[in-house]
Amino acid sequence: MDERITIAVIQGTMREQRQSSKAARFVAEVGKQFEGVDIVFVDPADFSFPNSGKDTEGKDPRYTEIVTKADGFFIVTPEYNHSYPGALKRMLDSEYAAYHRKAVAVAGVSNGDWGGTRAVEGLLPALRSLGLLPVRLTAYFPRVQDIFEENGQIKSDQADKYTKAVKGEFAELIWTARALKWGRGNL
Ligand SMILES: Cc1cc2nc3c(=O)[nH]c(=O)nc-3n(C[C@H](O)[C@H](O)[C@H](O)COP(=O)(O)O)c2cc1C
Repeated sequence: MDERITIAVIQGTMREQRQSSKAARFVAEVGKQFEGVDIVFVDPADFSFPNSGKDTEGKDPRYTEIVTKADGFFIVTPEYNHSYPGALKRMLDSEYAAYHRKAVAVAGVSNGDWGGTRAVEGLLPALRSLGLLPVRLTAYFPRVQDIFEENGQIKSDQADKYTKAVKGEFAELIWTARALKWGRGNL
């Protein structure tokens, strides 16, 4: 199958000093190395989601367009108080049917030793409820300050380990996204 697919890489927070954006940008760069895949970077700070939830007034048409076009999603979430950020939830909740039967991968980020595991585990049920199908693998970025330089570049002694982890997860995401795209069109 050589049809192109689109993967939206979603940054999970709009906090001004956010460090997880370095991991999200890294994930997007790894994704660009795959043939036949278009990467769209999604920053919740670029959108506006007024009101409270699943109503037409609470949508941002630019986000609607991205979700409708995407075949899969790679969400990079930091951990905030043992969960994932409210800004990510608000953005995800603004859409519903456009996610159905599409693939999703998640990566966790923290400045401590756990790599955002509790945020990831908390996020998965919400993603399933949206009709997304999570892949098996998860990349974790614990102690994010030790992985990336101040300018966002991955540190040279960390590059192999994290490129391998993200590439493996991305490969699963792409396979699943392609299979589901075929299924949506043929079943
Ligand atoms: C409101 C808030 C709550 C946080 N709670 C946790 C937490 O429960 N567990 C954890 O490991 N790190 C926690 N952190 C630290 C983040 O892991 C750290 O800020 C890291 O850089 C990723 O988040 P960032 O992208 O906002 O920088 C918290 C940070 C903030 C701003």
